Amino acid sequence: MGGTFTAAAAALVLVMAGLLGAATANIGDKCSTSADCGAGQWCFDCEPELAGSHCVRSAATNPFQLVNNSLPFNKYAYLTTHNSFAIVGEPSHTGIPRITFDNQEDTVTDQLNNGVRALMLDTYDFKGDVWLCHSSGGKCNDFTAFEPALDTFKEIEAFLSANPSEIVTLILEDYVNAPNGLTNVFNASGLQKYWFPVSKMPQNGQDWPLVSDMVTSNQRLLVFTSARSKQVTEGIAYQWNFMVENNYGDDGMDAGECSNRAESAPLNDKTKSLVLMNYFPSVPVKLTACLQHNKGLTDMASTCYSAAGNRWANFIAVDYYKRSEGGGAFQATDLLNGMLLCGCQDVKACQDRV
Ligand SMILES: *[C@@H]1O[C@H](CO)[C@@H](O)[C@H](O)[C@H]1NC(C)=O
Ligand SMILES: *[C@@H]1O[C@H](CO)[C@@H](O)[C@H](O)[C@H]1NC(C)=O
Repeated sequence: MGGTFTAAAAALVLVMAGLLGAATANIGDKCSTSADCGAGQWCFDCEPELAGSHCVRSAATNPFQLVNNSLPFNKYAYLTTHNSFAIVGEPSHTGIPRITFDNQEDTVTDQLNNGVRALMLDTYDFKGDVWLCHSSGGKCNDFTAFEPALDTFKEIEAFLSANPSEIVTLILEDYVNAPNGLTNVFNASGLQKYWFPVSKMPQNGQDWPLVSDMVTSNQRLLVFTSARSKQVTEGIAYQWNFMVENNYGDDGMDAGECSNRAESAPLNDKTKSLVLMNYFPSVPVKLTACLQHNKGLTDMASTCYSAAGNRWANFIAVDYYKRSEGGGAFQATDLLNGMLLCGCQDVKACQDRV
């Protein structure tokens, strides 16, 4: 009896220690599975470091909840996934095995639930529909196609429906030529009802509407296209009328350099109220992404701040957004929100200032 009791008590102590361990796990603690880590963390091995698996961040801080949502949309920073749709292990939807690279590792739904708030999507005419695809020359192929845009748009619709205080931005590299091709898919997905109209976007460097007003009016989907003509034909904002953006690929990762990509006005053109910072290599490399989501990323945030006429980036776009040695792209987003909201290095410091 006594022996049984002791064993049960010992088991209980172990269970409680396990629970406490999980609850108090810190970034950088050793782990063998994500269950060993705390909320908003996962167990990840940044292999080039040869240091084993550690708890690293897997979720963004929500500045609307932590601080407030009463400032203009352009006073916050949003974690952005580059090629959000190009997901490892996405099954072939064409019946033909895919031969192309990937940029992310979890679903768009997971990305949104982890705090990603802007998605970069490449849209193509394909099979009489609009598809998300990796390609060159503006033409999607069976072996480079990921999925119909409708499927992804429905995931975004479900997220906006379930999270009535959140705003999602779509940044489209847009090769769709079919008349109203995108509009049809936005309609069919149910996303149209969240549409933020171009007429409300600031044309000349003014502040954006308040997030709280965007939430109240339920205009919580911002869509930007790379196709200039669609602003007139379909009411989809031409990205570079409203946003400046640095170079992408390897050119965007040169330490100390932050200059505009060809389509964008110079970074310091303040007639555009939003600033987007790309930070991912020309060819995505999963293994080394964790090393890049570190000092190089936050240094670039400072470089782009100066280049943009002392403006912190609103969008920070990365591949494999969850890979890091600790805080990664989430910490970089906290830095941007900290600087934007209260001039602090971390948005968590803004909370206590009132
Ligand atoms: C989208 O839906 C709206 C209203 O539901 C309708 O007025 C509009 O014509 C539709 N657009 C297209 C291209 O189907
Ligand atoms: C919201 O937070 C910002 C940044 O800390 C602050 O300046 C502003 O006064 C706050 N607004 C309200 C209504 O609390």
